[in-house]
Amino acid sequence: MRIVLGVGGGIAAYKVASLLRLFTEAGHQVTVIPTEAATRFVGVATWEALSGNPVSNSVFDDVEKVNHVRLGHEANLIVVAPATADLLAKAATGQAGDLLTNTLLMAHGPVLFAPAMHTEMWQHAATRANVATLRERGVAVLEPASGRLTGADSGPGRLPDPEEIFEAAMALVTGAGRERPLAGRTVTISAGGTREALDPVRFLGNRSSGKQGAALAAAALAAGAEVRFLAAHMDVEPPAGVELVRVESALELREAALKAAVDSDVVIMAAAVADFRPAEVSDTKIKKVDGEDAPVVHLVRNPDILRELVEQRDAGGAQQLIVGFAAETGDEQGDVLEHAAAKLKRKGCDLLVVNHVGVGRVFGQDENSVVILSGRGAEPEQASGSKAEVAAAVIVRVASELPLVSPAP
Ligand code: CTP
Repeated sequence: MRIVLGVGGGIAAYKVASLLRLFTEAGHQVTVIPTEAATRFVGVATWEALSGNPVSNSVFDDVEKVNHVRLGHEANLIVVAPATADLLAKAATGQAGDLLTNTLLMAHGPVLFAPAMHTEMWQHAATRANVATLRERGVAVLEPASGRLTGADSGPGRLPDPEEIFEAAMALVTGAGRERPLAGRTVTISAGGTREALDPVRFLGNRSSGKQGAALAAAALAAGAEVRFLAAHMDVEPPAGVELVRVESALELREAALKAAVDSDVVIMAAAVADFRPAEVSDTKIKKVDGEDAPVVHLVRNPDILRELVEQRDAGGAQQLIVGFAAETGDEQGDVLEHAAAKLKRKGCDLLVVNHVGVGRVFGQDENSVVILSGRGAEPEQASGSKAEVAAAVIVRVASELPLVSPAP
């Protein structure tokens, strides 16, 4: 097929040479269009040699071929990597100052952006709004990877691996990403870890980073859903394009979840909810007093939000798919799956996504491995890989269960 590979002006441009290789080795015809700035990182000669095609970003080269119209028209796929903040802004506002932006406006096939930039730029309200606009228009925008950036800093903003971009691009073309199986559906997703206050400065918390929940939200958005994102404490930013509700404690999450669920087609409880909270919250900072014993913290049970969501649904007679997450360890009473099967029954949800945890496993990591258990008797399904891949598998499974459920009013 014909692919246009737009290259933005970022240091990650050099990694895109490997992406180009993956495309050409898979037998595709690739036209590379680097921005002016991109050619300061990787020269035109590299792109011409690797693609076997002439390279320009000017609408005034080969004018008789009407490249500014033809390339976008003919491309079966357009991939932009690295998608800089500048390119995302230009695409979102429909600018057409060079060949690449003209080509994006003429796109007839799927378009994929693979962003790379500094964390602050990625998290800036302007960039988030641009990403949200592009996603609303059906353009696929990958989440950047997290890790070491160009300078000494690190955070989300790294270009996803060329293999990952390649897979996402192929999925778009084969339809996996284009079907938008959740179009017209509302999906509520909770993520992150709740914090239970002890006093104005201290809390009981947990190790949840919110990465899996954020990846689920990005996958649900890519599948066309409206996403309500209930974010407890997270180490990562929620993806752009969600309807965001910030919560702190389990009680706040309960209130937000029961409200958001009322007219949702799907509810996914990926948050790590504290089962207990301090019975009393001190209005003032708890002090240590010489000669006195250390204070004793009494805990009380938090409500089980997942179970209440199932009860609310059943009481209202609504058709709704409810998905729970379980972080399990095996012990002498049973293995991980036995515990998980018992939990699925106890909670009454439709699907339970089971993580096997231990110290240092799963929490905060980028890789994940889960089993999806069904309350409807289907065989357990395994999914593993990056949190984005696991999220995609969960969303595909959710979408496949949904025809049984009519859209929420
Ligand atoms: N959950 C919830 N409300 C709680 C605790 C958990 O809604 N008070 C949800 C979580 O969001 C998750 C699922 O229930 O989707 C499983 O959470 P987990 O903590 O693993 O299970 P517990 O109910 O705490 O069971 P146990 O402590 O017995 O393992």
